[in-house]
Amino acid sequence: MKSLRWAFLIFLAIFPLSSRAQQANTDKPLTDTQKLGQRVFQQRCAICHAPARPGFQMYGTALYKDLVNGSEDPIKEIIRSGSSKMPGFKLGLQPSEIDAIVEYLKTVPKPPKSTEPATGGSMGPLD
Ligand code: HEC
Repeated sequence: MKSLRWAFLIFLAIFPLSSRAQQANTDKPLTDTQKLGQRVFQQRCAICHAPARPGFQMYGTALYKDLVNGSEDPIKEIIRSGSSKMPGFKLGLQPSEIDAIVEYLKTVPKPPKSTEPATGGSMGPLD
């Protein structure tokens, strides 16, 4: 019986993570490229670019589709070269993996207000 209780606790510990990983999966299922991008993003970027819990402060900025759409090339350049606060990934990631991350980010909805600075906001409620 004891091991059953452990299994339940482990399930509880894992479940919130997996449900968050699927949040980007709003309407359409992800393509293989987007899934690859999601996996690489979770491994390499989420530590700085995803809040540990909703509302938690992140080290990096929130990344989502409105930021990426139409700016694919500059975004890829940032990922390759990094900045003063962010490491570059041109040695650590294949160009195809960087492309896949960008394709994945295009499926990520704008995060709720709680992850942004509280400054009145210029966007409408439906963004
Ligand atoms: C060590 C933490 C860290 C990691 C890991 C990291 N970033 Fe960043 N990233 C940052 C910070 C901090 C910024 C804010 C830019 C600045 O002020 O220099 C940033 C900025 C960016 C931007 C520009 C956002 C904007 O608003 O213009 C993009 C795009 C980006 N990161 C993508 C990625 C991707 C994709 C990965 C994974 C391959 C990644 N980052 C990994 C810390 C990180």
